[in-house]
Order: sequence, then C-alpha cells, then structure tokens
Amino acid sequence: MSNGKYYLTTPIYYVNAAPHIGHAYTTIAAEAIARFKRMQGFDVVLTTGTDEHGTKVERAARAQGKRPGEFADIISNEFRTEWQKLSLQIDRFQRTTAPNHAKLVNALFNACNENGHIYKGTYTGLYAVVSESFVNDAKPGDIDPETGKPYEEVTEENYFFKLSEFTEPLLKFYEANPDFIQPEIRRNEVLAFVKQGLSDLSITRTSIKWGIPVEADPSHVFYVWFDALTAYISAVEGEGRWPADLHLIGKEILRFHAVYWPAFLMAAGWALPKKIFAHGWLLFENDKMSKSRGNIVRPSPIEQVMGVDALRYFLLREIVFGQDGSFSYDALVGRYNSDLANGLGNLASRTLNMVQQYRGGATPARCDDVDFRVEADETAAAVWEAYDRFDFSRALERVWSLIGRLDKLIVEYAPWKLAKSDDPESKERLDRILYSALAGLHIICRLIEPVLPHSASLIWQQLGNAGPISPGLPRWGTFDLPKHIGEISAVFPRVDLKPAIQKMQDLEELEKNRQAALLGKKPEPAAASAEGLISIDDFAKVDLRVGEVKSAEVVKGADKLLHLKVDIGEGEPRSIVAGIALAYKPEQLIGRKVVIVANLQPRKLRGLTSQGMIVAAATDGGLPVLAGFHEEIPAGSRLK
Ligand code: MSP
Repeated sequence: MSNGKYYLTTPIYYVNAAPHIGHAYTTIAAEAIARFKRMQGFDVVLTTGTDEHGTKVERAARAQGKRPGEFADIISNEFRTEWQKLSLQIDRFQRTTAPNHAKLVNALFNACNENGHIYKGTYTGLYAVVSESFVNDAKPGDIDPETGKPYEEVTEENYFFKLSEFTEPLLKFYEANPDFIQPEIRRNEVLAFVKQGLSDLSITRTSIKWGIPVEADPSHVFYVWFDALTAYISAVEGEGRWPADLHLIGKEILRFHAVYWPAFLMAAGWALPKKIFAHGWLLFENDKMSKSRGNIVRPSPIEQVMGVDALRYFLLREIVFGQDGSFSYDALVGRYNSDLANGLGNLASRTLNMVQQYRGGATPARCDDVDFRVEADETAAAVWEAYDRFDFSRALERVWSLIGRLDKLIVEYAPWKLAKSDDPESKERLDRILYSALAGLHIICRLIEPVLPHSASLIWQQLGNAGPISPGLPRWGTFDLPKHIGEISAVFPRVDLKPAIQKMQDLEELEKNRQAALLGKKPEPAAASAEGLISIDDFAKVDLRVGEVKSAEVVKGADKLLHLKVDIGEGEPRSIVAGIALAYKPEQLIGRKVVIVANLQPRKLRGLTSQGMIVAAATDGGLPVLAGFHEEIPAGSRLK
C-alpha cells in the first residue's frame, strides 16, 4: 500500500560542536514525522547530515590544534553515532565533504550562472583578522574581541547571486503556495522581510580556505549556505527523490530556507521543496540551548537512564511544536512518571494482568463498549489529523485522554467484582471491558508509534501480536485481536526523581570528558593499551558499509591493482583502488556486495583517487579474499 514517496530532511548540523538535545529535538521530530508518514503508507526517506565547511569549523578545529577535515570527521561521526545511540531510523546521512556533494554545488552554481543570475562583484565588509572572516553584524568602529582593535574594512572579489531579482517571483510563489512556510507566524515574518525588497547576495569567498572550490574559478570557495542547502539534493542524488516534501528546521535558519534556497533553485530552474516547517527553540535555564551559551544537555545520558522513548515523549508532548519550550530534568522525570509509568504503562499492565487472571490470557470474542468504541475512533481520527499538522502535543494529549477514559471505564465496570460472579450478565460484562480495553490498547499502540516506537512495539507484543505494529489509521472492528496475549512485563518502570537526575548528570559529565578527550588529543593507537584492546568508541569511528561493485577495471601498469566504482548508498559511487587484481578478474566483481571502509582519508594511487578501502582477508603470502554477505543486504547499510 504505497501512497507515493515522501522525502523529508533535518538541517545538516555544523560540526563546530558536539550534538546536544537541541539537535536531537529536530532529528527526533523529523523521525516521528517519517514514522507517521510510513503509517500513512508513504515510501519515506529521511535525511540528516553534517555541514562541515566555513570559518566556524575552521576556527573550532584550529582551537583544538586540528586540521579542519580531521576535526570535521570526528564531530560528524559524533552526530552519526548519536543518532544510532538514540535508535533513530535515518535513511541517508549526508556530509558536505562527500565527493558527490561538491559536484552538485558546482552544478547549481553553473545552472544559476548560465541562466544569468550570477555576476562578479566586490564585497566590502568588516573583517576579523584572527578568524579570517567577515563579521556580518558589526558596525564600523566596533572592536574585534580577538585583537582588541577595530575590525578592518576589507574588500574582496566575490560572485554575487542576483537575489534582488527574486523579490517578486518569491512573493508570487508564497501567494500561490500558502502552505509553503509553516507555521503561519513564520510565514508572515518571511513575507514582511521579502516585501522590503531583497539585496544581492555574495555566494563565494576568496578569504576562506576550508570550503568547496568554485570549479569555474578555483581561487573562490562557496559561501557556506550555498554549499549547505544543496546537501538536501546531494543526499538523495540519483534516487528520484528531489524535490523534498518537507524541510524541518529551527526558526533561526528560516530565512536561508524560505528565501535564499527557493531563489537559488528558481534561478537554476530546479524544483523547489514543497514545505518548510520552522519549529521553536528548546530552552535550558531560560536560554536557547547552544554550545556558545554553554548550556547544553547531551542526549545519550538521558537515553541511558530513562530510555529514548522518555526523551521523545517529553520533547514532543511538553513543547507545542512551533513554539519555544523548556527542558528540565525535573519535568522530564515528572512527565515520565505521571504519563508513561502511571498512565500508559499502568493501563497496559493492569489490562493484561486482568486478561491473564480472569481469562487465562485468552482474548475474549469481540464485544464492544459502544461509547468507548466511538470515542476511540474519534480519537484516532483527531490524532491523525493533528500529526498531519505536526501538532504532536495535541495528538498525544488526545491519546492520553483516551487512556484516562479507559482507566475510568475499568473502574466503572469493576472487573474484579464481575470476575467473582457466575451469572451470564457479569460474564458478558467482564468480556466487554476486557475486549474493549485490549482493542483500545491496540488502537493506542498504533497512535503512539510515531512518538514512542519502542514502547509501542513492546506493548504490541504483550498484547499477543507477532509482527510489527500495523500501519494505517486504526479503526475499531477493522482488525482482529490475537487469540492470546503475550508475556507481560513492565514497559515503563517508575523512576526515582533524585537518583535518576544525579545519574544523568554524572553521565553527562563523563560524556563531556569523553568528547573533550576525543577532540583534544589524538586517540591512543589501539596497540598502546596494555591488553591491545580498543573501546567501542574506537570501533565506532570506522564507518564500515555494504558496497555494491558497479564497475571494475585493471589499473594500467599496476598488475595488482583494480579500479572499482562502488555504490555505498550515497548516490554517486565511490572510486576505490584495491590491490586485489591477482585474486579477482574485473568481470567477476560486478554486482558483488563487499565491505567498504567509507571514512578513510582519500589517497592517490597511480593518479587515481581512492575514496575508501575494500575489506579482504589474506593468509601470509596468500591472495586476498573479499569479505561479503550470505544474505541480501542493500548497498549503503552500515556494519555495526
Ligand atoms: N548548518 C546549519 C544548517 C544548514 S541546513 C542546510 C546550522 N547548523 S546548526 O548545527 O547550528 O543546527 C541548527 C539546527 O539545530 C536548528 O535549526 C535546529 O533544527 C537545531 N537546534 C540546535 N539547537 C537547538 C535548540 N536549542 N532548540 C531547537 N533546535 C535546535 O544551522
């Protein structure tokens, strides 16, 4: 049952700082939307990634005594592994340092240029000498905190994008597509901004080194936003996914997405994304959570102590999506205990235990409490409608009022009394409340799956279902209940506030130190540890992926080398030079699934760039034997 394709994105995060729950907020929300869209029957792709070029990263790397590329690799990997730790189902992770990305940025530039929307001009601005960058928000005479002297006025040659020509086309576009920018308040902000008239935009720099070179004029690199936005296309290059159905972003980067990005695409004659949704900020200690403010909370300690669903539920229930909202450990644990442990968890275990106790675990035949059935169906429709608007808090509020209703209904029926009686009416009433509670829990599981996927699937199994949670809008009477319930266990054990908070804060400290060590000094080589052992984090640094060999050729003048093109799920295949020519003929390898080390620094071999390594085993002096798989596995899958 496919409803068509749905492609959504999170911003690609800067690698100047490690991931915090502000980043997790967007990624979790996007993943919940992806799950909801899958429930609706869409064939969904969700991408995230890292934005790795520009002065911010150059500066952060320098502060740690690292090369920008080396630094970007470390932090990009932190983001990738963070999403894995949170069990987020991400389909593509794009890095702006990926080889296919640079080509696409140039293609966008060339298309804009060919259509007459680019010119070479001079850019004059106030320049910070130490960080070698223009300071956009300074006035002449302002003091550079890094030198204690006024910023210098510097003029450099740049390519400019004729953004001024797009004022009218953009306003027309917003009018024709009233849902393009959401929520409404953000749309109004953008309209007001564009109506003032737009100025041309400098899109290249000669003062920055760490960026994608402009192929047509390599003394320039692309301005970071021209580079970054294009990642939404390069992430799914060759997959027929563009245009995106949704860019989910934080409100501070709205202008880039709702004004610059559509203008670049219009200029190139490329398709525009369908919707931009800007959510609010996650605040901590009354301020926007951010590295520069020094008030960050990392996601994995919360995941370790409370479970990832507790974090997902808190973020999406507590904060009205679109508005700002605060994080606090107290509120997190409080919500968990009241809504998850005492609310849903208690209802599930109570219902299942009654079915076990009064019916030996057998599900009664269909027997509805009609009022509750009507309410469950109404709730389901309202929840779907709310999810469709990305109104998570409203959706969850509706589910929790159904949970409350069911709790009350159980008290009204008092099954514990009914179970003691032998008269047929009591038996029938007992069946009715047990059936209704089980059917209600089936509906609830399906409604909460986007936000609480792991707990929903545990409850689903305890209800006796073998397969995954059924997709589609749940409607009472359209599904059969399993004949027997499954094994019962507590899904949301109660948590003691103080010790839980203490534990999260302790882990936060450890995590902070781990990250500082990761950035501060070179990791110890594995063999240096006494036992020759490496940590799981060391292993996680190696990005091993399933590759499919697309082409293979002998490298002229090198009898051991083959030049392979290997698809590792990034769109553009990787070029890999491998010393396997004595063991394999090129034609033997086409279509074969192999293991690729995907995050090695590129190397030149015989004039060819090798962007990775193929994994093979060999006995001493023996020929290499490629690692492979017995079962089907798509290219791009990660080995973990
Ligand atoms: N690299 C750019 C985005 C380029 S997209 C083509 C960038 N990166 S960022 O690392 O600063 O991430 C910004 C995004 O992270 C926000 O837009 C938001 O999605 C998320 N958040 C970061 N901190 C956040 C909060 N405190 N609260 C809510 N979202 C947060 O901008």
